[in-house]
Amino acid sequence: MADGSTTNFDADLTDAHDARGLGAKLRSFGRVNPRFAPNLARTMLAKRDGSVVEAFNAHSEKVGYEFTSGWASNNIPFVTPVLRDFVAKRGDGAIRYLEIGAYEGRNLAFMDWLIPDRLNVTVIDPWFDEALNPEEKYHAVEPRFHRNMARTSFRSMTARKGFSTYELPKMLAAGEQFDLIYVDGSHTALAVLIDLCFCASLLSVGGMMVLDDYWHDISEIGGPGVKQATDQFHAAFGRYFEITAVYRQVALTKIAEIPR
Ligand SMILES: C[S@@+](CC[C@H](N)C(=O)[O-])C[C@H]1O[C@@H](n2cnc3c(N)ncnc32)[C@H](O)[C@@H]1O
Repeated sequence: MADGSTTNFDADLTDAHDARGLGAKLRSFGRVNPRFAPNLARTMLAKRDGSVVEAFNAHSEKVGYEFTSGWASNNIPFVTPVLRDFVAKRGDGAIRYLEIGAYEGRNLAFMDWLIPDRLNVTVIDPWFDEALNPEEKYHAVEPRFHRNMARTSFRSMTARKGFSTYELPKMLAAGEQFDLIYVDGSHTALAVLIDLCFCASLLSVGGMMVLDDYWHDISEIGGPGVKQATDQFHAAFGRYFEITAVYRQVALTKIAEIPR
């Protein structure tokens, strides 16, 4: 397409396109948080179903989604059993789902495919922003997101155009609540720590939040990254969460309300 996207998903656009080299990944892996280590070992030893990525790719092609990135593919074999388990415990009702950082909506398309007809969705993404998200590609990503979302069958979809740092406090003030939250926006520790604190408050007891890119310990614009924020958050509030899974992502289930 004119904006560089393709309706045929390119499965090669995954880990190999991670901007960080192998050295950075190994360094980060060497600093595993001891509180997460047992769960990481359990997740890595568990059986994974790789065929789910192929099944979702075939679905995407059939629907005609326009995707240029496959970030979510690395997580799909791990997160699928976690999500299936979460949904199985919740009966038949609607699930309030928040995604921070939607990009062109590929993970959302995956969620719609895996959990059909159940999700009331809210997304937060600034897409292009002159000062803080200035890459020109975002001018094309935002309309592509809307074209892709028009092909989904969510119960509802609210897109909040803005940064989570500013949108989340408004949502908390308005009394919004979510059952499932996916944090995949900024990679700076400062923004991620704000995301986690607000998401912990917006999450209902029994709800789960999935934090992406846990192993990034340096953000793309410099300074501490997702890992420091997640480790610090868990050090302070770990007693209010059960560690559900650890791999590239960390999934935490809220077991009690946090005093605030
Ligand atoms: C890795 S992409 C998200 C990919 C998407 N979740 C998926 O898997 O298909 C990161 C997105 O986060 C957005 N972003 C960056 N900082 C943000 C912030 N502070 N709040 C919300 N979104 C942010 C970017 O505009 C970008 O679209």
